[in-house]
Amino acid sequence: MKCFSDELNQGLLDQQAFMFGHRLMGHSALSLANLGSALPALPAGQVFYSSGLLNEKDDFDRAHLDRPNGLTLEATIENIRTSNSYVMVRKPEAHPSFQPLFQDLLSDVRSLCKSRGMGDSVVDPMLYLFIASPNSVTPFHIDRYSTFLLQFQGSKEVCVFAPWDERVASSEICESFMAYGGKRPLWRDEMAPLGHTFQFKPGEALHIPFMAGHHVKNGPDDVSISMSIIFNSSKTARQSMAMRMNHLMRPTLGRIGLTPKPVGSDAVRDQLKATAWQGCYSAARMAGLVGSRQDAK
Ligand SMILES: [Fe+2]
Repeated sequence: MKCFSDELNQGLLDQQAFMFGHRLMGHSALSLANLGSALPALPAGQVFYSSGLLNEKDDFDRAHLDRPNGLTLEATIENIRTSNSYVMVRKPEAHPSFQPLFQDLLSDVRSLCKSRGMGDSVVDPMLYLFIASPNSVTPFHIDRYSTFLLQFQGSKEVCVFAPWDERVASSEICESFMAYGGKRPLWRDEMAPLGHTFQFKPGEALHIPFMAGHHVKNGPDDVSISMSIIFNSSKTARQSMAMRMNHLMRPTLGRIGLTPKPVGSDAVRDQLKATAWQGCYSAARMAGLVGSRQDAK
């Protein structure tokens, strides 16, 4: 492992959230000097920033639109200690200074997936970088990927829920979210006791399994700098497609009083649904009904 410590418990990958150490403290790509020059050089569509004064109920995907902080990106970074802001950068590896870091992390993720029998391929890997003022909040959400989150500066509390827990988000909601069908998992105060809170500090890494809800609160003392690598294994890519197939079938089955079996408990059934989804997608594409291959993944 180049980036992750040897204490990492591989057997828990995508089963349960767990913490371990990382070896990237002091990496030059994460220095404030490099961030100050690299981030403004990235395409504007990859850099999102908003007020950090959010709560668990806010829409994480729309915070940069719904809750602007009224500053430019440069002013936001320069005043991050006091501006109550939250900066999220998608694919910072588009800048050359992040490429070696990305390749090293990808190498670790690839060997983890391989050793867990999840296949050689890592699907759609990408980095996300987060720079946040003290006390800022990342609202409750579920990602369409597995995550390794690495902390570089400041402390935070990360609350993670068990993956596939219907008490946190129903199959129907999760499938719609995965299929970009208009619904997303929402925070409800009664869910709070179901989460496990990790106290997270520099040098530590946290695995957030595929389909595990989570929310984050940064500590009061320092600016938080953290980075994640998100990815799908061949297994979670298959589950993702099976969920989209369930979303597609749900209205038709509902008309005859049936619901699709949830994804995640039967690999053979999930594979059949994933294959069906790929067939539907290919047919829709040939008919000119959809445009982007990305949506089939
Ligand atoms: Fe997340």
